[in-house]
Amino acid sequence: MKIGTPLSHAATRVMLLGSGELGKEVVIALQRFGVEVIAVDRYANAPGHQVAHRCHVIDMTDGAALRALVEKEKPHIIVPEIEAIATDTLAEIEHDGLAVVVPVARAAQLTMNREGIRRLAAEELGIPTSRYAFAESVEQLRAAIDDGIGYPCIIKPVMSSSGKGQSLIETSADLAQAWNYARSGGRVDRGRVIVEEVIRFDYEITLLTVRAREEGGGIGTWFCAPVGHRQEKGDYVESWQPQPMSGTALEKAQDIARTVTDGLGGCGLFGVELFVAGDDVWFSEVSPRPHDTGMVTMVTQWQNEFELHARAILGLPVSTVLRNPGASAVIYGGHDAAGIVFDDVDFALSVPQSELRLFGKPEAFARRRMGVALAYGDDVEDARIRAREVASRVRTARQ
Ligand SMILES: Nc1ncnc2c1ncn2[C@@H]1O[C@H](COP(=O)(O)OP(=O)(O)OP(=O)(O)O)[C@@H](O)[C@H]1O
Ligand SMILES: [Mg+2]
Repeated sequence: MKIGTPLSHAATRVMLLGSGELGKEVVIALQRFGVEVIAVDRYANAPGHQVAHRCHVIDMTDGAALRALVEKEKPHIIVPEIEAIATDTLAEIEHDGLAVVVPVARAAQLTMNREGIRRLAAEELGIPTSRYAFAESVEQLRAAIDDGIGYPCIIKPVMSSSGKGQSLIETSADLAQAWNYARSGGRVDRGRVIVEEVIRFDYEITLLTVRAREEGGGIGTWFCAPVGHRQEKGDYVESWQPQPMSGTALEKAQDIARTVTDGLGGCGLFGVELFVAGDDVWFSEVSPRPHDTGMVTMVTQWQNEFELHARAILGLPVSTVLRNPGASAVIYGGHDAAGIVFDDVDFALSVPQSELRLFGKPEAFARRRMGVALAYGDDVEDARIRAREVASRVRTARQ
């Protein structure tokens, strides 16, 4: 494996599509290997833009614009960091041999739409999931629920993330409202929703799974210790690692993660989302890229999830060894305003064994994730308390 000198003819060029807080950390990991990094996002001064060699602002769902930028920048490797991308264009770029798409273009195509990944997992790979159906009208939705999914159930747009457009409904009286909310909250208004049975899980995890080059040339699979997390309204608020699990549940989780990631293919880190009740495990969804709940690995692993992704895509050896337990807690904007100020950062970081990442997003919203508090220690419970304490001490203010 060779890496050239950045900004020279020999440079190894990587283009990030999406340059949020997760992309920013991937850029930093790549920069440390002397990779030339081009960061792309839909708005200027995105977090990843601020640490890359070059940056661009384009609408990444515009296939022609995306193709033109790739032809101009000639990256060797393209790393999708978000779901909302013209993935058919990525497939063409891969097919035409213009660049390697991480992990493979098909993975980006299948995971940008809940229907693609759900049908692959449940119907082709035979992996346990919640019961589900797709609907394109309130009538179809009602029929699908009456036909077996039942109440309560969860309704989601087929294309959305971070819980947008998602509702949990208890009775048929809430159906119309959930349908309308899904239609308005979806990324692209396809008028198509998935309705899922509610799984009564004891806890949920992200199993960070790495597919990387093995000694000898094949592709191997590595698992990080399970990351536990708590979600509010479909968005993660805190995570910790390791989540204690029974041996049987962990084995099932790893089997599912291996099957799904083998099914997607390519090299890179994946965030496999799973629900666990006793020894039973259900697959929920997968990100073919670092996962927000995995930010905790910045204080828990020798190689965090961003470094693992960078290594896997460059064809370098990986290690998923846990260094110590830890936790993360999200810091929100608290205001709808541009150029906010973070105050009492010194007070926050006076919590022992803590760290902070402020993402540098130019514009805040009350519920926009602007930073993350991290804490490590001898046990998860203690780390969780301290991560929450750090997050609560950071005050956000309008300029
Ligand atoms: N079928 C289900 N049963 C129980 N809980 C569910 C189910 N589907 C979703 N949830 C809850 O809602 C959360 C968000 O769901 P999901 O991951 O599908 O949404 P998302 O919009 O893709 O979120 P993100 O992009 O943050 O991963 C899950 O982590 C889980 O807590
Ligand atoms: Mg999810």
